[in-house]
Amino acid sequence: MKDCTLIDHPLAQARLATIRDKRTNTELFRRALGQLGLIILQEAIRDMDTKSKRIQTPLSQTKAQVLARDILLVPILRAGQGLIGLADQLLPEAQIGYLGMVRDEQSLEPETYLEKIPRRLGRFEIIVCDPMLATGGSAIAAGRLLEKRGAKRLKFMHALASPEGVRALRKAFPKASIITAALDDCLNEKGYIVPGLGDAGDRCFGC
Ligand code: PRP
Ligand code: URA
Repeated sequence: MKDCTLIDHPLAQARLATIRDKRTNTELFRRALGQLGLIILQEAIRDMDTKSKRIQTPLSQTKAQVLARDILLVPILRAGQGLIGLADQLLPEAQIGYLGMVRDEQSLEPETYLEKIPRRLGRFEIIVCDPMLATGGSAIAAGRLLEKRGAKRLKFMHALASPEGVRALRKAFPKASIITAALDDCLNEKGYIVPGLGDAGDRCFGC
């Protein structure tokens, strides 16, 4: 499916195997999800604008490239926090804005219970972070909320996505990058990704 970027790096696939495995306990799940998040994050940043900066090495002057804009990570709680659990090691300069959302188990519609994001979102490269793109409802609601608050540059990063979720998110945000480590087969009747990994929030936090 060309609507999203699939990360086929062997290390990403190995971490994916760990989080899919039902025998993986909370501790290992959280670690593998955080490591996978680092790999996906690198891919999400790959095409961001850079600007030149003159620096002095111990030997001479040279031109270096640095990111042109500040990055804002927006994890969708709870499971999004697991995906960026190690992001501080790669991107300590990122700001982090939190959106708390939970899907209604019957309607599968997301309900927003927390919104803690910086002002003037237009200055950021924004990456919405959530391991699961299932119906797409949560990611779409997050993207719309951020656009309402002034977001101009949005990307979405996921560990697993369903074809239905990618289609819905692509339709809602035709220009945004959607980056995922796996594109699974389908959704089941309860809106779970199959084969998937189960409930990401529960597996990451133990309840
Ligand atoms: C899960 C997951 C996503 C959402 C994806 O969250 O972490 O946020 O479902 O589903 P969607 O694409 O159909 O919207 P959940 O509502 O289970 O909350 P939790 O992370 O707190 O467990
Ligand atoms: N949320 C999850 O945690 N898992 C799924 O498979 C779908 C939505």
